Amino acid sequence: MDTLIERAREALGAAHVPYSEYRVGAALRTADGEIFTGCNVENANYSNSLHAEEVAIGTAVTAGHHEFDRLAVSSGVRDGVTPCGMCRQTLAEFCGDDLTIVCDCGDGEVATYTLGELLPETISASTLTDAADNDSPHDMSDSDSGESS
Ligand code: THU
Ligand code: ZN
Repeated sequence: MDTLIERAREALGAAHVPYSEYRVGAALRTADGEIFTGCNVENANYSNSLHAEEVAIGTAVTAGHHEFDRLAVSSGVRDGVTPCGMCRQTLAEFCGDDLTIVCDCGDGEVATYTLGELLPETISASTLTDAADNDSPHDMSDSDSGESS
């Protein structure tokens, strides 16, 4: 089996999921081959819950890594779960469109994507620097203002 999928499966064993009972594990490989894992950590204040991918990337960044080439995600029911929209954006902060994402479908099957497929047209640091370069006073009469006439 894919080593990274194995590591994601191991990680989901530690998931804290008293509310959803839906375990997720993630394993993120750095450009130099190290692997960092995470599991979901739910909270009674639901919106405080951490996703497995967030925990994995946070742990990797804490250890000083900013370059990644492969992510594996597995759920307890091996349903091929993909990173949610929020996690896709979190990954995009450090990973290019070419990040490979493998999702555990069980029975040795995986669904493979690139981050670019799962999150096209992401907001990035360059979005903000480009906006700053073009900074000008807002013109509310602009046809893009959203007002109907
Ligand atoms: N979950 C993740 O850990 N990663 C995702 O990207 C999808 C959702 C978790 C959050 C919550 O604990 C449970 O799965 C059900 O949504
Ligand atoms: Zn998520």
